[in-house]
Amino acid sequence: MMEEEAMNPNEPLAPGAEIAAESTAEQPQNPAEAAHSRRAFLFKLAVALNGAVGALLAVPIIGYLLGPAFSKRANQSAWIHLGRVEDFPQGQIRLASFRNPATTHWDGETGDIPCWVRRISGNSFQVFAINCAHLGCPVRWFPQSRLFLCPCHGGVYYEDGSRASGPPQRGLFQYAHKVVNGNLMIYAGKMPTLAAPYAQPPLTQIQPSSATANGAKSIAVHDASGRNA
Ligand code: FES
Repeated sequence: MMEEEAMNPNEPLAPGAEIAAESTAEQPQNPAEAAHSRRAFLFKLAVALNGAVGALLAVPIIGYLLGPAFSKRANQSAWIHLGRVEDFPQGQIRLASFRNPATTHWDGETGDIPCWVRRISGNSFQVFAINCAHLGCPVRWFPQSRLFLCPCHGGVYYEDGSRASGPPQRGLFQYAHKVVNGNLMIYAGKMPTLAAPYAQPPLTQIQPSSATANGAKSIAVHDASGRNA
């Protein structure tokens, strides 16, 4: 058995032994201190992980809340080309459709909006929203009777869009339109809602026709607020 040499404190340490002695002196010797630093590290790690998860969850919520304020689609209405004037025969009503500028590419076919175009003569048009003024079902045009009929509850409209009979209390909505270089354009996009009741410019609405003395119908055109257009 080898006997351990007793160390003389006054004896100088060898260079390697000196460094080892210093690094040993830096190690926390107290187990309570070591446990405390481990707890502190785990606490910081937990805070960092919770922060990262919270940030991930907050992104969609913040996007939902602030998105409308930064939306590039703030003005969701625009003038839209509906077709050439000659695409619509005089005295007839044709179905047309346009891409709603208020939609996004993931809206698919739901962004294609049909409408009824009535060419009265020359550049004189009416463009009707397809939705019934009662509860919004798409109305159909029947050229034989020259009436728009709603399949849902039997709403009936004359060819000028005014109400003929049934549950609707008013006529069909109309789009603002204009003819530019032989092209029929309509102003469409964001529809009126309770929060923003008036589209700009407002859709017009045809009121019931009143028969005149000579039997001709007079057409009263009103905007969405009920004022004469
Ligand atoms: Fe057209 Fe009711 S939705 S009559």
